[in-house]
Amino acid sequence: MWRFMHRVIMSRCDFSNLKFLNYGYVSLDPKCELLKLDESDELERYCLQLYNYTVSDVNLKGKDILEVGSGRGGGASYITRYYEPNSYVGLDLSKKLIRFCNKNYNLPGLSFIHGNAEKLPFDDMSFDAIVNIESSGSYSNMDKFLSEVYRVLRPGGYLLLADFRTIQGNELLRNQFKAAGLNIINEENIVKNILKATDLDYERRFKLINNKAPLYMKSLSKEFSSLKGTKRYELFDDGSLIYLRYILKKS
Ligand SMILES: C[S@@+](CC[C@H](N)C(=O)[O-])C[C@H]1O[C@@H](n2cnc3c(N)ncnc32)[C@H](O)[C@@H]1O
Repeated sequence: MWRFMHRVIMSRCDFSNLKFLNYGYVSLDPKCELLKLDESDELERYCLQLYNYTVSDVNLKGKDILEVGSGRGGGASYITRYYEPNSYVGLDLSKKLIRFCNKNYNLPGLSFIHGNAEKLPFDDMSFDAIVNIESSGSYSNMDKFLSEVYRVLRPGGYLLLADFRTIQGNELLRNQFKAAGLNIINEENIVKNILKATDLDYERRFKLINNKAPLYMKSLSKEFSSLKGTKRYELFDDGSLIYLRYILKKS
């Protein structure tokens, strides 16, 4: 259902300037220094901060990285420019989004490819790390994705994942990681950080939806964006949905 909604929204609304499709992240520690960004990255700061927080505890410099579900490529571009990997491949199921990325990003070491998370078009042990942000919840078969992750990661490689689940969904997820041979190095519920980010980013998201979505898509787009006042926001707020950031390591 979620995957279908996403496809409908993206095909009916003109969000052509967006580089990210996630809820965003903000630190709740008042002493935390603001992430230094180029002027051109400021517009979607909160979405970019979700990428930064998800990958920041692993050294990516000089590494070969795959992102599964790279969307509009903003995270791939950010990590390539700020973390200096050797190579970064963004993969997405949507051919339209891959076309968008290939047209809009031209950075040494960065490439985009069409493909399915459940059947990755790469040789065994091709990558040092896999990034996966707000994408895994829409896969038909999470076990297949995780076995593909295990196959294409080098020994000791990382899966850096951020996404939301119910409490029971997260218990299942932990078991799925274990069964796939991925050790949990860190698990954190960052739902409060996500909600704060959607609050701080409210005006930009609200204006964007009001200006770019056709009338009949506005309320669905607000729901998808988890704006304050939507059912989705409430589910995060009352604990029915949690938002997780995982660092996993191939055993
Ligand atoms: C909510 S968007 C997040 C995009 C990006 N990670 C971001 O944070 O901006 C989810 C993305 O996952 C992609 N996706 C969904 N199912 C997929 C699959 N089976 N294989 C690869 N990509 C998939 C969608 O096309 C979409 O671009």
